[in-house]
Amino acid sequence: MAHRLTVIGTGYLGATHAACMADLGFEVLGLDVDEDKIARLSNGDLPFYEPDLEPVLRRNLENGRLRFTTSFRELADFGDVHFLCVGTPQKADAYAADLAFLDAAVEALAPLLRRPCLVVGKSTVPVGTAGRLGGTLAKLAPVGGDAVLAWNPEFLREGFAVRDTLRPDRIVAGLPADQGAAEHAEKVLREIYAAALADGTPFVTADLPTAELVKTAANAFLATKISFINAMAEVCEAAGADVTRLAEALAHDDRIGGRFLGPGLGFGGGCLPKDIRAFMARADELGTARALTFLREVDDINVRRRVRTVDLTRQVLGGSFAGRAVAVLGAAFKPDSDDVRDSPALDVAASIRAQGGAVTVHDPRANANARRVQPSLAYADSALDAARGADAVLLLTEWREFRALTPSELAPVVAGRVIIDARNVLDPDAWRAAGWTYRALGRP
Ligand code: UDX
Repeated sequence: MAHRLTVIGTGYLGATHAACMADLGFEVLGLDVDEDKIARLSNGDLPFYEPDLEPVLRRNLENGRLRFTTSFRELADFGDVHFLCVGTPQKADAYAADLAFLDAAVEALAPLLRRPCLVVGKSTVPVGTAGRLGGTLAKLAPVGGDAVLAWNPEFLREGFAVRDTLRPDRIVAGLPADQGAAEHAEKVLREIYAAALADGTPFVTADLPTAELVKTAANAFLATKISFINAMAEVCEAAGADVTRLAEALAHDDRIGGRFLGPGLGFGGGCLPKDIRAFMARADELGTARALTFLREVDDINVRRRVRTVDLTRQVLGGSFAGRAVAVLGAAFKPDSDDVRDSPALDVAASIRAQGGAVTVHDPRANANARRVQPSLAYADSALDAARGADAVLLLTEWREFRALTPSELAPVVAGRVIIDARNVLDPDAWRAAGWTYRALGRP
């Protein structure tokens, strides 16, 4: 059956989902309450950087399968499957997730649902949210029980959003308790994801709370894995050992595996930090805070890497940032992204500035976003410009062009030959052989 899909919320998740579903052949209508965003998307202009996404957006606008609107009425009249993709950021004053956008979306949509449809939640939510929203739908939708709610968490990574959407590791389908509704929801989701399923993608069905938890548990696990190796880095620093060798050796055990075992400045972004905090807050509400106290430690280890990077730089510069120029390479929370939400790189840059250093930042894509968040830092258009006159160069986000930097390129412009490799991506021998002071996290 040719489903007509809608996508509510056009951030990283929603814009990618809408464009990719259109690319699979569905007619798709995307909605956002931000008129400016809708105007840009309708023009084929992505409001954020994501490799490979713009061509997918443009060709599906051109072939007419993809459109955008700000009207919930138009959306409700158009679609028979509605994906909820709005953001669930951390609350300003607490660890918990702020569900205001999600509640508002469901409350706007539900009263307009006059024919049978499936509402599919994709946003990352505290466990129990889907059950609650199902109640809102049942109460407000004119079509009543024929508006069915399912939960289908999304695992896409920024920088790989198109690939992760079209070829996910797995599809998780959280289904409602009512058996008839569950069978219908499963059938529709299998039809929508038919292409991925034909490629052998595993399809895991679960009840609604389990499906919600798969997402938070996955992110908690990934954050824990990163903080585990960064805790080992702390021990390595104290013991004079090399955490990169340690990680390499651990990775050969395929029960452990090498992915997300990269020691360095740690995790940031719009997901992992806020998701582990929201998970702790939710466990607390459920009376099971104890089960997740280790995530407090995961968060602390992660934040300590930022402090350590600042301390190490200050120490190499002789104990003070006063009168010192520092070049910061990277502002995005990871390469291939212009996202600076909870960015470790920007945090370190701001902290050095606050301690009296003159900081110049360069990021291939994120300078503009970084300038909005940290207007008091200086920004340069290239790595070499950032490094001009610097007493120390800090590699904080491992963009490919920074990995490729050589000592001989930088030497003519810097004031002091100091490089801090906070992502462990440079070759220490090459830099030291060229006469540089090379320092990294977790290495002698
Ligand atoms: C993450 C999850 O991977 C994804 O499944 C979920 O849907 C959203 O959250 P994302 O935030 O896009 O995706 O970035 P990811 O690639 O997971 O990286 C997160 C952070 O961890 C980055 O700051 C990265 O630099 C850091 N990281 C990653 C490490 O410090 N070491 C590693 O080995 C891997």
